[in-house]
Amino acid sequence: MKIGVDYYPEQWDRSLWEKDAETMARTGVKIVRLAEFAWSKLEPRDGEFTFEWLDEVISIFSKYAIGIVLCTPTNCPPLWLYEMYPDVIQVGADGKRIQTGIRAHRCINAPMFQYYARRITEQMIRQYGNNPAIAAWQIDNELEAYPCCCEVCKAKFRDWLIDKYNDLDGINAAFGTSVWSGDYTDISQIQPPTAYPKAWQNPALCLDWHRFTSQCTADYIKELQMVIRRENQKVPITTNTWFCENTPDFYEIFRGLDFVSYDNYPPLRIPENLDEFYSHAFHLDLMRGVKEDNFWVMEQLSGITGSWAPMSPAPKPGMIMGYALQAIVHGADTVVHFRWRTALTGAEMHWHGLLDHSGVPNRRFYEFSELCKAVSKLNILDNTRVVSDIAILYSPDTDAAFKIQPQVEGFYYLEQLKAFHAAFMRYGANIDIVSPETDLTNYKLVVAPSLYVNKRAVTENLYRYVINGGTLVLTARSGVKDEHNNCIMDTLPTVFKELVGAEISEYDPIGSTRQSIRDFAGNEFACREWCDVLQTTTARAYAEYNEGYYRCIPAVTMNRYCGGVAYYVGTVCDMDFYESFAGNLMMQTGIPKLKGLPKGIEVTTRTNGKDEYICFFNNNSKPVTMPLPKPMYSIISSSGKDKLDLGPFEMDIVRK
Ligand code: GLA
Ligand code: ZN
Repeated sequence: MKIGVDYYPEQWDRSLWEKDAETMARTGVKIVRLAEFAWSKLEPRDGEFTFEWLDEVISIFSKYAIGIVLCTPTNCPPLWLYEMYPDVIQVGADGKRIQTGIRAHRCINAPMFQYYARRITEQMIRQYGNNPAIAAWQIDNELEAYPCCCEVCKAKFRDWLIDKYNDLDGINAAFGTSVWSGDYTDISQIQPPTAYPKAWQNPALCLDWHRFTSQCTADYIKELQMVIRRENQKVPITTNTWFCENTPDFYEIFRGLDFVSYDNYPPLRIPENLDEFYSHAFHLDLMRGVKEDNFWVMEQLSGITGSWAPMSPAPKPGMIMGYALQAIVHGADTVVHFRWRTALTGAEMHWHGLLDHSGVPNRRFYEFSELCKAVSKLNILDNTRVVSDIAILYSPDTDAAFKIQPQVEGFYYLEQLKAFHAAFMRYGANIDIVSPETDLTNYKLVVAPSLYVNKRAVTENLYRYVINGGTLVLTARSGVKDEHNNCIMDTLPTVFKELVGAEISEYDPIGSTRQSIRDFAGNEFACREWCDVLQTTTARAYAEYNEGYYRCIPAVTMNRYCGGVAYYVGTVCDMDFYESFAGNLMMQTGIPKLKGLPKGIEVTTRTNGKDEYICFFNNNSKPVTMPLPKPMYSIISSSGKDKLDLGPFEMDIVRK
């Protein structure tokens, strides 16, 4: 377990470098990330490489035994490159080159950008490839599925479509272009669907465009990864990712990389509804699931956020330490804080680092230094993992398709996953969030919310899982689309009809209108957004609608199918339903539950196969006291305990 910081030596006077490295070492910083935006300082003019300053920085950090994550500086090409080759700048939806001045303007498909990106990477890897101080390489920074509309991207997209569908007839058939006289008679007629209003674009074209742009990002990563690998076979390579509007397919972009890294900025405004606290844990679990392995946080919240938006509240006492430990217990082996010093200049001067503009140590900095001390005691967790009985499936295709066509007011794909995640967390369960294509054999319970875009391999995977005895939960808007993002001419939930033993005779997108359902035990729960009116074939009703014209008709069903069970939840409910439902599912599948956990307390268990460590996190601004089921040894306070007194955002880790 290591704590690190993001550092921008190119933004600071040379005289500070050694002082900073010395303070970092004294504080317990073990990793520093460098250079992702430093291209103009590494190649100030075409072909003139000036690595001396970086040599010096690297030798300073090596002297203090701080490992280095070196980044390809490819996020920000220098202005001379844009001047020499203006067509390396992305083109927007309006057909115009975007204005330079911020960052990440480059088109990752532009041949001259690729040439220069490979060349600077080659130069860096030659210079530092065998330097033992380099702990890992990061490719670029927060890569997105860029919707660039330049001629190169358009031509590439057309080639990609021909590769996929063979010819124009194939493309016309896949996109259903007979609607609105959209038939393509020449490949040059195919345009990226970026014109507004977006809602008028063909959803099949939109999804393929998103897949294409995501694939380009994955290819670009692969290209730079190969440049690094040619010189150094061993050093781990990653890229840092986040949730953005143009989210690339996480599974694709990390496929060939050695580990996932994630930029973790939990929101600083404390929600009134305690259930929302679980969302950071949700993102961390999703990141662990991308490679089904531990990961890194490459940027971690360190202060007031701002610049892109007005400033947030300051992190409350406990948050710097608590959120970093929360990331660790969910699988982050290294947490790198963004950033050491707050920038004095540039657009991000109000996005605060650990040290404020003055550079004078402050409350957050002292807490960070406590964090470093605490983490130095966590070596015991080094070879442990989060092992889960429960999987929630995240589909990048479905995520993209719902962004292309929002279904109904208030209905968001990730919220469907989060509701279940939060419910299982209420019982202290570990939860994996994984790809619908992964091997599900070892899970006792799988939840696949709203599997909207369907692939044969996924459908077969789910049937196989249930046939072999698994318990599966599907929810509203499953089976709606084929793999092209077109509707399927069949009764919903189409491919899953047999599995769930029920059919949807009609649906009612009620949006924010509230209705209610009643479960088999007579409990009533509010529902909203979407109501599938279900007709059972082999299933039994688990809950029925309680009002309206589909009163007494099933809303939630349960079907025994071969060796397993498939549930279908046809509506969207408030948290009390998910908690009750999750409790029943866990009981049915024999998954242990921690009962009576105070709200806001998150429990995660890490194991090395022999020892288990239970981590209790008070994700709450109020102190909480709770008894432990038996006396346990705390590795945070190095003492035995029979109850926990957790301050706001405090973590304790006990050996089971
Ligand atoms: C992202 C970027 C960083 C910085 C932070 C804060 O995570 O990768 O360079 O801009 O956001 O805004
Ligand atoms: Zn382009």
